[in-house]
Amino acid sequence: MKDKIKELLSEVEGFKAESKEQLEDFRIKLLGSKGQIKDLFAEFKTVPNEDKKVVGQAINELRTKAQEKFDAFKISLEGNTESKEEAIDLSRTGVPYKVGSRHPISIVRNEIIDIFSRIGFTVSEGPEVEDDWHNFSALNFPPEHPARDMQDTFFVESEEGEMALRTHTSSVQVRIMENAKPPIRTLSPGRVYRNEAISARAHCFFHQVEGLYIAENVSFADLKQTLMYFAKEMFGEKTKIRLRPSYFPFTEPSAEMDVSCSVCNSEGCNVCKYTGYLEIMGCGMVDPNVLENCGIDSKKYTGFAFGMGVERIAMLKYKVNDLRLYSEGDVRFLDQFKSAF
Ligand code: PHE
Repeated sequence: MKDKIKELLSEVEGFKAESKEQLEDFRIKLLGSKGQIKDLFAEFKTVPNEDKKVVGQAINELRTKAQEKFDAFKISLEGNTESKEEAIDLSRTGVPYKVGSRHPISIVRNEIIDIFSRIGFTVSEGPEVEDDWHNFSALNFPPEHPARDMQDTFFVESEEGEMALRTHTSSVQVRIMENAKPPIRTLSPGRVYRNEAISARAHCFFHQVEGLYIAENVSFADLKQTLMYFAKEMFGEKTKIRLRPSYFPFTEPSAEMDVSCSVCNSEGCNVCKYTGYLEIMGCGMVDPNVLENCGIDSKKYTGFAFGMGVERIAMLKYKVNDLRLYSEGDVRFLDQFKSAF
């Protein structure tokens, strides 16, 4: 029996398959259910006990070698002739695929919404192509106001006549005021368009989050407190705010809000242009004309509104120095926000 094993072993070692048929014959002869290795195992029972160990090892070695030979020729023969699929090695590690990340504008917008939703603001959205009424007239823009000029606004022709790409999301707030009864406490996030030359500091579209609160006895103190809460949540507990008088057609009085510069702790740096403060939003008490335009009794109700640019807040938060980066889709930029959920 030992001789038989030796003989088969040298046969296996010298075997070369030139075709699939030859390989199949080899398999049937040696490894098949009626093959010679099977016979050897059957015969094994008759081997005297003292020889069992050695003979057993020899049969096993023969079987392993025959199987290896078979596998090697199978791959090489099939790789040449048959479909590649059968030759795929399923034990290889997979190719890692790239996982996307949230856009910095989405991250910051969601954070703003999250902060205001904790004090009762809901989210409302509206169309990006607007009529004159919702973008301008209802908001108390006099007909000759320069913001209506072609310089700032993109106009588009539609079946309903000339429409504008909204220049701010205050238009959404007009729609809300027309359709809801106070108290109203809502945020309108969204994309807005302005006809500006594209540069590091300006773009023809950007994103805003505007807020509106209308109820009885709403005062400027409420506005200030709300904005202070927001600034501390967004930029840190030590943040100070500053309100400077300003002008918007739809608010009276109006203000511009600055936050203390977190880059230099208000000591002065090139980010805050050595003023210690950074401007982040416009705000004010809703002009009674606007309330009346939208069917709200301005004798009974008052309200405040504010609006901020998301890109600007993201710039301050992540120290981004060029607005164009937000819309170029460069993965080297976007990849940096992977962990910033
Ligand atoms: N709508 C203003 C803008 O786009 C921002 C703003 C909103 C100002 C609400 C005051 C009150 O610049």
